[in-house]
This record gives sequence, C-alpha cells and structure tokens, in this order.
Amino acid sequence: MSKEDVNQLLKLSASLPKGTKKRSSSTKRLKKRGSATTPTSKSKVESVQETAPATVISAPYDEEVAQNVVFKPNPGPQTQYLASSEREVLYGGAAGGGKSYATLADPLRSLNDPDFSGLLVRHTTEELRELIQKSQELYPKAIPGIKWSERKSQWTTPRGGKLWMSYLDRDTDVMRYQGQAFNYIAFDELTQWSSPFAWDYMRSRLRTASPNLSLYMRATTNPGGSGHSWVKKMFIDPAKPNTPFLGYKYRNR
Ligand SMILES: Nc1ncnc2c1ncn2[C@@H]1O[C@H](COP(=O)(O)OP(=O)(O)OP(=O)(O)O)[C@@H](O)[C@H]1O
Ligand SMILES: [Mg+2]
Repeated sequence: MSKEDVNQLLKLSASLPKGTKKRSSSTKRLKKRGSATTPTSKSKVESVQETAPATVISAPYDEEVAQNVVFKPNPGPQTQYLASSEREVLYGGAAGGGKSYATLADPLRSLNDPDFSGLLVRHTTEELRELIQKSQELYPKAIPGIKWSERKSQWTTPRGGKLWMSYLDRDTDVMRYQGQAFNYIAFDELTQWSSPFAWDYMRSRLRTASPNLSLYMRATTNPGGSGHSWVKKMFIDPAKPNTPFLGYKYRNR
C-alpha cells in the first residue's frame, strides 16, 4: 500500500464519525497532506461513503447446538424408561419406538466414570452388529476420545469406563461372564431368549465397588418371540405399566 493510500484511508476513518472541532482540524491537515490523491483512490472514497451502514444480525441461538446435545429422549415412554431408577426395567413397545437407541444412550450418563463397567447384549451376532454400528455413530459424539476395540467388542472411555457389546446365543454363553462384575447390564429384545436363564444368571453379575455408581439391569422388547411367556410373567403380570413392584424372590419371602 502506498503512502498516499494510507493517508487516504486515514482521512476516511477520520471523517467517518462527525467528530469534534479538534478532530476536523486534524482531518484538514491530513487532507492537505493527501492532496495528491489519484482519481482511483477518490472513487474508492465515494464507493465507501455510499455503502450503507453494516447491520449485524446475530445467528439464531439454538440451545441444543450451543450445548452440543447429542441425544435427547423422545417425550413419553423413552423419557420414562431413561428416568426410571428401579433396579430392573423392561421397556416394551412397538417397532421403531426408540427402545434400542435409548438403551444405547442410557449408559452414556456414567460411562466416563473410571469404575463404570457395562454390558449390552443381543441374542445373536448379526443383531449385535446393528447395535454396534449405531453406537459408533453416537458414542464418539457424546464422549470425545472414546475408543472401540473390535477384538474385545468393547468401548473404553478416556477416563477408563468400559462397556462391552456382546451376544448371548446359548444359555452356556453366560459362563464367559463368570467372576465378572457389571454395574449396568442391558438385554436388547429380551423375548428372543426362550428362558429366563441368561437374565437370572446375569443378575448375579450386577455389582460394583464404586459408591458413585448405581446398579441397573435394563431390557427392551417387542411383544412376541420365544420368550414372550416368561418375560410377561416376570415384568408384565405383577403390576400395571409404569408401576414399581417387588421381584418374584422378594414377593415370596
Ligand atoms: N431420542 C432419539 N433421538 C434421535 N433419534 C432417535 C431417538 N430415538 C430413536 N431414534 C432413532 O430412531 C431409530 C429407531 O429406533 P430404535 O431402533 O431404537 O427403535 P426400536 O424401538 O428399538 O425398534 P425395534 O422394535 O424395531 O427394535 C434409531 O435408530 C434412531 O435413529
Ligand atoms: Mg430395537
């Protein structure tokens, strides 16, 4: 930028606000100095002076974007499911209602706790794949730095919390969890298990040494399936929907 251009710009900025006398005198001085302005720079002045004053329009404020909300429960059953504090909960309902997605989102609340140890199971490997794919979309957004290990079929958070995603095909598969402890266990599509064996066994694996973590067992299901009858007996028959009740073991004491 030439010296003249600089002077011209100074002149411009000095003349924009209608200032005090003092200021206008300095403008004059600048004008004198800049008397050798070229026609080009003059036209620049005109075009700038013709420009309408800038209007600042702030971008619409989206609270969810601002807070980086990655999951928000749908109103109704999904919210009720995620708000429930009972030890064991079944979320039943029509296909596509958000049962599996809510079950994926549920552990995110405490997954970053170093003591968190969770297990999410499906009946077969193919069904599990779908769930893993959804978790791969959701989890890194919710917990930056979280790592998926294909070999271990396990998520590990930067602070050390762990969530295994696994399948339980045969009843004997539960034995691979012998001696392990989980504070969160979820069965997606519970009626695909034809007997309560896996659920009952995994109940014995629900424990934690951490005072910060609660114990939860969660299940989702559609009506029907080979386990319809035992699931109905365990969760549906004892009480109306959304009503807490004591489990079989305690009711018969
Ligand atoms: N709260 C939510 N926020 C954003 N997307 C959601 C939410 N809940 C559900 N979804 C979307 O809806 C899709 C269907 O939900 P989901 O698979 O959980 O239904 P489902 O009840 O498990 O169905 P099915 O009975 O067929 O297994 C999810 O893959 C997800 O993309
Ligand atoms: Mg589902």
